[in-house]
Amino acid sequence: MSIEDKFLDLFIKATEKAAIGASKFIGKKDKIGADKGAVDPMRRELNRINMEGTIVIGEGEMDEAPMLYIGEKLGTLRGPEFDIAVDPLEGTKFTANNQPNAFSVIAVANKGNLLSAPDTYMEKIAIGSNLPRNLLDLDNSVEKNIKLLAEAKNKDISDLKVCVLKRPRHDQIINELTKLKVGINFITDGDIAGVLSVIGNNPKNDIYYSTGGGPEGVLAAAALSCYGGQIQGRLVLNNEEKIRAKKLGINDFNKKYNLEDMVKGDIIFCATGVTNGDLVNGVKDLGNEYEVNTFALHKSKNINKIVKNIYNK
Ligand code: FBP
Repeated sequence: MSIEDKFLDLFIKATEKAAIGASKFIGKKDKIGADKGAVDPMRRELNRINMEGTIVIGEGEMDEAPMLYIGEKLGTLRGPEFDIAVDPLEGTKFTANNQPNAFSVIAVANKGNLLSAPDTYMEKIAIGSNLPRNLLDLDNSVEKNIKLLAEAKNKDISDLKVCVLKRPRHDQIINELTKLKVGINFITDGDIAGVLSVIGNNPKNDIYYSTGGGPEGVLAAAALSCYGGQIQGRLVLNNEEKIRAKKLGINDFNKKYNLEDMVKGDIIFCATGVTNGDLVNGVKDLGNEYEVNTFALHKSKNINKIVKNIYNK
């Protein structure tokens, strides 16, 4: 069942308002303030929508205000039932330090169609469209995955570009990639944009290969599904996190989630820029008004556009 057209604009408004809220903290070295600046207006907008929304991907698992928490009900409770994944501010550090690539993001599916995952790490490999299904596997060596990808793309290994989140935990991946002489594009944060750098007409990277946030993995999977891209993820859980995962219905702690295990059916995906970035431009303060830009996808309607709107202050 596809999601009615009218909902796209309503969800865009939610990320626009969140982005404006966060933008007031750009460069202010206040990650927590910036996050709250996004969360409160996002919640307010979502609660205006005629829907029965449930957060399945959020910033926490209980009533941990000010976060939009997993299980939180949103909307007027009159209307269709939706699963909602949110990251009101992806790039809290980017916002606090006035660096590029901070945005507010939401993904929406019909009830039961988004994976509910705890706020833990997830190993991820992601590739773009027009590649054989299930080409790569997290249990393959880095070398095997890179060789398979080069073969499928009919490229030399040295012509492949890999996006890696710069963290000490990735030293081994980085060593193996370096030995293979592939090009590495490091990111310092923001792995939704990292994953999404493998899609589009002229993608910056051929593959994303790192461990980042689990919620970010599901959000990125939602956007990838609109492009026919692929992702495989596996949650990284310590003992305490296993208990939290169990409460969300996850019993196989080593499960490798392919895209179809995270996202099913129709999808709305909206990302409104806070600072300028690869996906979309940030909030522009025009004096008496704000200009906001949103990267918007609606899978069943083949909508893939950048929406610009102006709000009075
Ligand atoms: P926040 O903006 O929510 O802090 O997340 C930024 C981020 O870089 C994510 O994109 C990524 O998935 C995660 O943090 C990586 O976590 P860590 O910094 O702990 O390696």
